[in-house]
Amino acid sequence: MSRTWTDVAALIIVAGGVLAPALAAQSPVDHEPLAAANAADLASGKRAYVAQCALCHGMDGSGGYGPSLLVPVLPRATDDRSLIRIVDDGIPNLMPGYGRANGPRRTWQLAAYVRSLMAGSSPVAIVGDAAKGKAIYNERGCAGCHVLDGAGRAFGPDLSSIGTQRGPAYIRQALVEPSARVPEGHVVVTATPTDARAVRGVRISEDVFWVYVRDPGNRVHRYWKSDLKALDREAGASLMPAYGAQRSTTEVDDLVAYLVSLRGQQ
Ligand code: HEC
Ligand code: HEC
Repeated sequence: MSRTWTDVAALIIVAGGVLAPALAAQSPVDHEPLAAANAADLASGKRAYVAQCALCHGMDGSGGYGPSLLVPVLPRATDDRSLIRIVDDGIPNLMPGYGRANGPRRTWQLAAYVRSLMAGSSPVAIVGDAAKGKAIYNERGCAGCHVLDGAGRAFGPDLSSIGTQRGPAYIRQALVEPSARVPEGHVVVTATPTDARAVRGVRISEDVFWVYVRDPGNRVHRYWKSDLKALDREAGASLMPAYGAQRSTTEVDDLVAYLVSLRGQQ
């Protein structure tokens, strides 16, 4: 049996007529303000957060693959409406949308939980001195591996807007214990060619035939994989030197204060 186009259209119109008002009334954007969420709403939002968001934004919201949510102002989610919309629809190519899986109520609770993380973030005491941290950054040769506002070498991640991407706790850990979280794109490999010296560095790209490795001197090596005796990936390794052991805690505090203040050119 074949349905004609008009049959299908009629069905959609009938179904739409019944469903549309119900759906419209349930849009998470039309809920109460996020600040109205009670403890049960926040607990439910938290459960969903741990299951769906923690992977990218960190268990505590301090960031990882995705930006830190422990900031008083989010650049994209500027108000309730835009925050809910992001949790609902995601961001093309960057973040999946969860609205369909969660439904309007859970989406609203999740957004309220994110809002509570943001609010709880303001008292995170930044004990260091950002101006001193800037001087330490320059003295310690961080620019030898990081770009900041266009200056420096791009061996490690660009730090120009690290303050919007990572929270203070994440940044502190990155300095003191770099191997704890190595961002995607900075995996350490050792390439051993059959006829030359092994090179240990950061893998910048890899496909079936080729691998590109940037050594700590910032030279990029391109290997035809069939010319390699071995290509070893080091899980949990980082080429960022740990600054915790030999630095005083005040130096780390100052560096954290400085890095948290970096928000890109605005
Ligand atoms: C696959 C990784 C991933 C998952 C899972 C994920 N996000 Fe994101 N999220 C991102 C990335 C990446 C961005 C930043 C995009 C950008 O601005 O560069 C982002 C941005 C956001 C923003 C906007 C921040 C701003 O700058 O305004 C919010 C809010 C957010 N995510 C909340 C959530 C919530 C809530 C969940 C769970 C329902 C979630 N995210 C799940 C990767 C993820
Ligand atoms: C020898 C090169 C090198 C030097 C010197 C260096 N870093 Fe790094 N840094 C890296 C690499 C590689 C990564 C990425 C891998 C990782 O996070 O462990 C990184 C990661 C980071 C991160 C985390 C970024 C993120 O988004 O996850 C911060 C913050 C950072 N460095 C700050 C500093 C500061 C501050 C200094 C100077 C005190 C410094 N780095 C010196 C190579 C270096």
